[in-house]
Amino acid sequence: MKFFIDTANLAEIREANELGILDGVTTNPSLMAKEGITGANNILKHYVDICNIVDGPVSAEVIATDLEGMIREGEELAELHKNIVVKIPMIPEGIKAIKYFDKKGIKTNCTLIFSAGQALLAAKAGATYISPFLGRLDDVSTDGLALIEQIRLIYDNYAFDTQILAASVRHPMHIIHCAEIGSDVMTGPLSAIKALAKHPLTDLGLQQFLADHAKGNK
Ligand code: E4P
Repeated sequence: MKFFIDTANLAEIREANELGILDGVTTNPSLMAKEGITGANNILKHYVDICNIVDGPVSAEVIATDLEGMIREGEELAELHKNIVVKIPMIPEGIKAIKYFDKKGIKTNCTLIFSAGQALLAAKAGATYISPFLGRLDDVSTDGLALIEQIRLIYDNYAFDTQILAASVRHPMHIIHCAEIGSDVMTGPLSAIKALAKHPLTDLGLQQFLADHAKGNK
C-alpha cells in the first residue's frame, strides 16, 4: 500500500519524506488555507515547493466547479510539475472533467467520494485515483471502511485501473484496516503514520537492552 501524507505543511512533508516511506502528498483548499497559503501565485508556488520535496504524486485541487473552469485550472496545475495530479470533486461536471483529462493523459484524483456509485462513475470516467473519505463517514456513524471494501470488490470485478486512495484517515488503525482491505493508497496525517511505529513493549525492550549493555560494558 502506498503512503501519502495529507497536508500542505512543508515541515511535516519533509519529516515524513525523511522516514523514507512516503510515496506522495494530497492537499485540499482547507489544508492550503490552514498553512496561510492564499492568492493564486502563492498557491501555485506552494505546489511546486511540495513537488520539490517529494518524488511522487502530489494532488492539487481545482476550485472551479464548472467544466471550463476545472479544465483551465487543471491544465495550469498539470503544467507546474510532472508529478501533479489534478484533484476534481465528484460532481457531474467533475466527471466530464475527469474524462477530458484522461483523454489528455493528465492524472486525476476524484475527491469527496462517499458512495460506491460515485466510485464506479469516477472509474468509468477514467480517474487515476478516487478518494473515499473514511473518517468523515465514521464521523456520521457510517462505516467508512465498509465503503472501501465495497469499492475494492467492484473495481476487482471489472479490473478497473483506478486506484483507491483512502482519504480522511485519522489514526493508525484506519491505516492497518485499509491495508487489510487492499486499498491501493492511504493518505493521512503525519501523527497517524508515526503512530504505526509505536509500541510500549518496543520502548521497554529497548530500554532493557541498553541498560544490560551498559552494565556489561562498565
Ligand atoms: C483527501 O484528499 C482530503 O484531503 C482529506 O483526506 C480530508 O480529510 P479530513 O476529513 O481529515 O479533512
